[in-house]
Amino acid sequence: MKSNIGVIGLSVMGMNLALNMADNGYKVSIFNRTSSVVDKVMKEHGNDKLIPTYNLRDFVNSLEKPRRVFLMVKSGAPVDMLIEQLLDLLDEKDIIIDGGNSYFKDTIRRRNYLKEKNIYFLGVGISGGEEGARFGPAIMPGGDKEAYSYVSEIFEKISAKAYGEPCCKYISKDGAGHYVKMVHNGIEYADMQLIAESYTLLKKIAGFTNEDLYKIFEKWNNTELESYLIEITGNIFKVKEENRYLLDMIVDKASQKGTGKWTNLEAIDLGVDISVITAALNGRFMSNLKDERIKAEKIIEAGVNEVADSGIKKEEFAELVKNALYVSKIVSYAQGFKLLSVAQKEYGWTLNFSEIAKIFRGGCIIRAKFLNDISDAFKNEESIDNLMFTKFFANEINTRLADFRKLVSIAVQNGVAVSAMTSALEYIDTYRTAQSGANLIQAQRDYFGAHTFERVDKEGSYHFDWIAKEEN
Ligand code: 6PG
Repeated sequence: MKSNIGVIGLSVMGMNLALNMADNGYKVSIFNRTSSVVDKVMKEHGNDKLIPTYNLRDFVNSLEKPRRVFLMVKSGAPVDMLIEQLLDLLDEKDIIIDGGNSYFKDTIRRRNYLKEKNIYFLGVGISGGEEGARFGPAIMPGGDKEAYSYVSEIFEKISAKAYGEPCCKYISKDGAGHYVKMVHNGIEYADMQLIAESYTLLKKIAGFTNEDLYKIFEKWNNTELESYLIEITGNIFKVKEENRYLLDMIVDKASQKGTGKWTNLEAIDLGVDISVITAALNGRFMSNLKDERIKAEKIIEAGVNEVADSGIKKEEFAELVKNALYVSKIVSYAQGFKLLSVAQKEYGWTLNFSEIAKIFRGGCIIRAKFLNDISDAFKNEESIDNLMFTKFFANEINTRLADFRKLVSIAVQNGVAVSAMTSALEYIDTYRTAQSGANLIQAQRDYFGAHTFERVDKEGSYHFDWIAKEEN
């Protein structure tokens, strides 16, 4: 009997996805460029559902038709190389699925290239790390809908489930799936940065210990902040190694594989403000200037006479931080979905935000209870300009904004950097300002460059001869 699907690339994610498929009753052929990896997987996890293969021809011939070839290899050139090697072996209507963190424009190119050869190509975002891949990731499939129909049963079966639904729904054509995964990662960066800023505030201003922080985050995980990242952060605070907190032994330099950078480059390309996600990316850059920061701390003073006594109790301060974190999270998801709303017009996709929010409810790194509220908000107010303006989230923001402002003021007065939180607050204030100072920018541009401006009292574009006026 031929295999139902085949997985190429048995790294942590690839291997665990193959095991997940086998657990769900599918016959899975496996292949890895380094054959010893195949042997290792069979030795440690072998069962009658896993079919080891040691060359691509045998791998392809072991698959039932239309063949489903699942690539879990490093993004970039390795994907293109593998496609070329597979081309001679596949038949028309076979399906190549790229489950790596590929750049969406590469996915569009590959889909169009393979379309000419009548071979399907699906770009599939997969989120949830090792545990997600093994027991249930969030899956964001993009590509030809007909191709997806051949894999939907497998994907929905192996995906995480949330509220009885698979965290896997068809996104839209060509690169849409990888695009949504890219935006997921941008929001992930923002989420992680906001939590890091909350940790810094609670530790540096309120003096909470790691033990206190574990209890605070454990409590927060039973509130509107309930989420995977809040849960694991609470767990991180309590881990000790030889009677020292492991967290305190970790160097504060954050690495990145690049997906958050893509999100920012794309937002700039499309002219979308994703300031909280940008602040998170900058936070990672700045964290790597560790030596410079050690020097700078001795050169540039905090500028506060003493730790500004906010005059509030520790527990009240923690509540301010919680509200600031929650509102900032709302803003970061709102910015991510705003980018998606502009992208779908740019790339000709049809995105269902309520359904996408449902995918994020389980399996993925940004899974959070309030994604139900996001899904409902988009379902009830489909044509809304921004998630923040939906009835539910406008109320969530309005009832916490005073606390948010107070918290940011205390942070600023104490010289504690909260760039992602302040970006979120500035985004709210910028959006809620009907009359901005941009009329002065238009006047300046027209003054030195005659770039013209629109008027409030009449239609059209105008130039004023500011210099002649100045000379008179
Ligand atoms: C996921 C994660 C994953 C990502 C890692 C590392 O959804 O499972 O987003 O895809 O690669 O989190 O990302 P960075 O190295 O960019 O932080």
